[in-house]
Amino acid sequence: MPVTAIVGAQWGDVGKGKITDLLAEAADLVIRFGGGSNAGHTVINGLGEFKLHLLPSGIFNAAAISLLGTGMVVDFAALQRELDDLRRAGVSGSGLRISNRAQVVMPYHIVLDRLLDEARGEERVGTTQRGIGPAYADKVARLGIQTGDILFPDVVRRKLDLLLPETNRTLLRLGHPAIDPADIMRQAGEWRECFGTLLVDQVELVDRYLTEQRPIVLEGQLGAMRDIDWGEYPYVTSSTTIAGGGAVGGGVPPAAIDRVVGVVKAYTTAVGTGPMPTELHGVEADDLRTKGAEFGATTGRPRRVGWFDGPAACYARRLNGFTDMAVTKLDVLSGLESIPICVAYDVAGRASSDMPVTPLLRDAEPVFESVPGWEADISDIRSWFDLPSEARFYLSRLEELVGAKAGIVSVGPHRAQTILR
Ligand code: IMP
Repeated sequence: MPVTAIVGAQWGDVGKGKITDLLAEAADLVIRFGGGSNAGHTVINGLGEFKLHLLPSGIFNAAAISLLGTGMVVDFAALQRELDDLRRAGVSGSGLRISNRAQVVMPYHIVLDRLLDEARGEERVGTTQRGIGPAYADKVARLGIQTGDILFPDVVRRKLDLLLPETNRTLLRLGHPAIDPADIMRQAGEWRECFGTLLVDQVELVDRYLTEQRPIVLEGQLGAMRDIDWGEYPYVTSSTTIAGGGAVGGGVPPAAIDRVVGVVKAYTTAVGTGPMPTELHGVEADDLRTKGAEFGATTGRPRRVGWFDGPAACYARRLNGFTDMAVTKLDVLSGLESIPICVAYDVAGRASSDMPVTPLLRDAEPVFESVPGWEADISDIRSWFDLPSEARFYLSRLEELVGAKAGIVSVGPHRAQTILR
């Protein structure tokens, strides 16, 4: 059955948006299976340049359904802003659908995200402040409001009566005024008006597409190192970022997923706090950041940058089972005399390519090997064999370290700047 999951294999911001946009061209159904408006997918195609946060990258394929899946937390106000932007650029977004079992990011989640992360002081996660953590916390505490609830005002009101007293106590303690339920009910009415007709039964939809053998893409968010279970906890997001999450949040039976594309950037970037063993500092970092235009698509924060981290990408391959690997931004590395690659970590005097737990990762020293760089601008190259031999060697070294074949290589931001092997 033609189901492809596309997942990030590092910390985040791997260029997954471009790869999904590319693969979504041939898909009939594109499902985002987790996260919310914390995502920042940059897509550049024939229609222009777009920064997607909530919308699946399939939104540009007018013939496809783009579904916000059950595993997501949906901020309706942010969704409206994003759709308005697209419509101004002439993209109708008519394929958009929303699972009626996803969670709603409420206005108080956004306030709490900022206040609670600030209250952690030195231990802050550096979240995107989009309400993601508090929305998932309410979900598992069984205090969440599901997207489908907006069709039933009395249900929303009952849930608010249950949860707001405690939420308001927390807000007041953190110096923020209490939330008025009438205000939320008014907003919920607007959400119902704008999005009520887009709510769907995801299970029926997915089952129908599977039965008809129509191609489905499951679009992940962030990367394995920020996964709630497998990432460098607690410096993680609050959702599942790996392909298994595509089954859970995407409503697709696990055995139906027959292709997993792991996306890695040719070097490493991260936003937010937590260990990043190959991180660069000073001039070297500034150079790479500028060359790669490494500023967050959601927050505009300068991204932390570093060399390719073999153990992290291999860890992601082990968790996801990549059938293919996509390597993005290879063009950014052109012009370097030699390129360091992290092949292992030195953890307490012992070299290992396994991923240690966070307290050990914090002190892990990267073990680097250097490979020769290449001078030529490769952004116009479209064939594997036209790449400089050093670039091919670099990629083959990544393949060995990760344990997956680089079937897709991206050499520039445009959809066309892609080498398919
Ligand atoms: P949250 O997902 O906003 O709760 O943030 C948790 C962690 O994930 C922080 O380190 C964020 O910087 C990081 N993060 C969240 N979304 C993205 C993204 O789209 N790209 C890169 N990092 C992200």
